[in-house]
Amino acid sequence: MHVPDLKEARKRTKEKVVEKKVDYTFSKNFVGKKYFLRTYGCQMNMHDSEEIRKYLEMLGFTETMVLEESDLVVLNTCAIRENAHDKVFGYLGRCKHLKREKSDLLIAIGGCMAQEESVVSEIKSKHPYVDIVFGTHNINELPKLILESKKKQEIEVYSIEGDVYEGIKYSRDSNITAWVNIMYGCDKFCTYCIVPYTRGKQRSRKLEAIVAEVEELKNAGYKEVTLLGQNVNAYGKDLEYGYDFKDLLEKVAETGIERVRFVTSHPWDFTDEMINTIAKYENIMPYVHLPLQSGSDKILKQMGRRYTKEEYLTLFQKIKESIPNVSITTDIIVGFPNESESDFLETLDVVNACKFDSAFTFIYSPREGTPASLIKDTISMEEKEERLQRLNQLVNQYSLENNKKLEGKVVPVLVLGENEKDKNKIYGYTDTMKLININGSKDLIGKIVNVEIHEAKSFSLDGVVAKESVEN
Ligand code: 5AD
Ligand code: SF4
Repeated sequence: MHVPDLKEARKRTKEKVVEKKVDYTFSKNFVGKKYFLRTYGCQMNMHDSEEIRKYLEMLGFTETMVLEESDLVVLNTCAIRENAHDKVFGYLGRCKHLKREKSDLLIAIGGCMAQEESVVSEIKSKHPYVDIVFGTHNINELPKLILESKKKQEIEVYSIEGDVYEGIKYSRDSNITAWVNIMYGCDKFCTYCIVPYTRGKQRSRKLEAIVAEVEELKNAGYKEVTLLGQNVNAYGKDLEYGYDFKDLLEKVAETGIERVRFVTSHPWDFTDEMINTIAKYENIMPYVHLPLQSGSDKILKQMGRRYTKEEYLTLFQKIKESIPNVSITTDIIVGFPNESESDFLETLDVVNACKFDSAFTFIYSPREGTPASLIKDTISMEEKEERLQRLNQLVNQYSLENNKKLEGKVVPVLVLGENEKDKNKIYGYTDTMKLININGSKDLIGKIVNVEIHEAKSFSLDGVVAKESVEN
């Protein structure tokens, strides 16, 4: 048994990361059995679930979307805010209930919550019916843990840093767009954030390995890749090869795959060369997710963000001016401890200046073990909620305004599938990452087509396929 340890997780040694290969030599013992996989949180987690799904399929399981039909439940959890915790523990209640009726049901918990000391001790003391707990550093041990699962609870979570695995197989959600990890972990240690503890130190994959994966995806017919990292602009800084994110972007673009995207950017590491590279290549999409978090210099400093309001605005302007037609989205936290009304107004000021295409907005949630969680807070929850509402109102106003400017325009869209509610419609994303519902034929799924935008809403667009627009 290995349990997580926050002190260990905080350490950053100079020791080199070891590149490892996953061992796929396990037996197919579960033919005829069903698994139910539930994923919480970000794209990183969704991509980890594609790895988990592959292991389960290789063990012989088939997927069910109905919890009650399953022989194995895997919850891939998120730790970013308290409400993510609450959702998982709420769901676990349903699983416990099911296990009373189905005693050989296996329950496994993985992901970021499994990396938290307090969560694991809660599982040990209050949820003995959970069979397996595995962490973000040892997803590849899940087959072994399932195969060896006995009647007692198995906890295998490692806190130190982690390695880089190559040759991972995935059972991907889509055959059109694919996520590609370019790095794991994060060394930024923003004072509110749990990720550097749950995902370990920054470990970049080698450039050649990433490019080879993109080539393989392109050859398999994929149209789009999204390069994934907590902080993609810092890519390569932990390696000794002298290349950085700009070099990686160039090499990935030169594979000729039709669309290249990347998330998430950190303003601190965003260089002019990176901006120019995004502008230069047609197949690097004009879309940047650039978290602001706060517009107040005082709060930014306390958050450990390493930039000022002015520096953020300067970078924003540079990106807008250099990349034609770019759309920029952001993340904002309100109610950081002791955020005053005037601090909050500074945030609104940046929103007014940037007019973001959209923004993910959150009320600050203290995470155990992070420095910010120790700050005594004097602002009431009512006040925080009221600020969130005011912020959302402004954010939505600009989303709509930006989208309205697109009415009547023709934009390229990668069509991803059928609209769930209206089977006569298909949906996709514009180059600028806007969701669009289209009157058009299912034959266009997987293709990039030009779409004329008829109506713009705050969170989506409606359009029709422009005549003679199919490019491929
Ligand atoms: N409380 C609220 N929001 C948070 N985020 C990260 N940590 C916290 C926290 N403790 C937000 C940030 C980040 C996004 C993924 O989640 O805005 O960019
Ligand atoms: Fe993703 Fe962060 Fe949630 Fe972990 S805590 S799953 S990294 S959003």
